[in-house]
Amino acid sequence: MEIIETPAAMHRWAETARRRGETIAFVPTMGFLHEGHLTLMREGRKRASRLASSLFVNPTQFGPNEDFSRYPRNFENDCALMRTVPVDVLFAPAAETMYPPGSQTWVEATEITQGLCGGHRPGHFRGVTTVVAKLFNIVKPHVALFGEKDFQQLRAIQRMVADLNFDLEIVPVATVRERDGLAMSSRNAYLSPVERERALSLSRGLEAAGRCLAEGARHAAQLACAARFALERTPGVEIEYVAAVDAETLKPIERIERPVVVAIAARVGATRLIDNMVFTPRA
Ligand code: PAJ
Repeated sequence: MEIIETPAAMHRWAETARRRGETIAFVPTMGFLHEGHLTLMREGRKRASRLASSLFVNPTQFGPNEDFSRYPRNFENDCALMRTVPVDVLFAPAAETMYPPGSQTWVEATEITQGLCGGHRPGHFRGVTTVVAKLFNIVKPHVALFGEKDFQQLRAIQRMVADLNFDLEIVPVATVRERDGLAMSSRNAYLSPVERERALSLSRGLEAAGRCLAEGARHAAQLACAARFALERTPGVEIEYVAAVDAETLKPIERIERPVVVAIAARVGATRLIDNMVFTPRA
């Protein structure tokens, strides 16, 4: 696996590959890789002749009181995991290379980022869409893969690609879970054993919402209520939001007539976790 640290060198790699008629799949990450990231990479491997990934803990998507400085990092282990896929090229820039002094241009999907996490993490999605736009320009992929685990991020990036005419395909990948249902996340590393058990209330709440729909409920509020119940009866879990919204637009809905995404953000101890599931009503 080649490791590239500057945008200029990454441009050269991408141009050479494209001139040779290769296709490039791309999986951006912030590292501390787990099976979720590796599933995206394996899927990317199938969809193009070359596979690129990036590892960059992007400062602009963290708020002033968030976990940027203590975000888990393990570069050597991440490289070893990428080699198992195998990833052909890793773009791992330093923060100064991505945001040199004088940087002042932002990319923002304004509407789809209003609710859910966007309402609680001001500036977060602006940081995400900006860095992803930059990474697309640097890596020049034909296809890029994103996890449904970060559902609003996926929708914001799809919106950005459509609105700004990026010439690439976005492939969503279903959330990879632990055997007991917990959505894999780099932040799960923060959880103590007791918190790890309590964190199961997120996926259990989502499953309860799914059962609620299967049993005939057709109001978004009923699904949200079912999910909320699982969280509220678990000690040490503080809800940030529970929402059941349109799975395309992420706008609030009353009656469920199309696919609905039930999304949760909650603090388990000091750790903020998110999870979601999409449910489709039977016709
Ligand atoms: P990160 O949290 O490292 O996630 C990288 C990619 O892996 C994202 O597309 C995310 O949705 C996906 N992912 C994480 N956990 C997953 C799981 N359990 N199942 C499936 N996919 C999963 O998301 C980011 O980094 C950053 O915001 C980034 C897009 C790299 C921009 O900085």
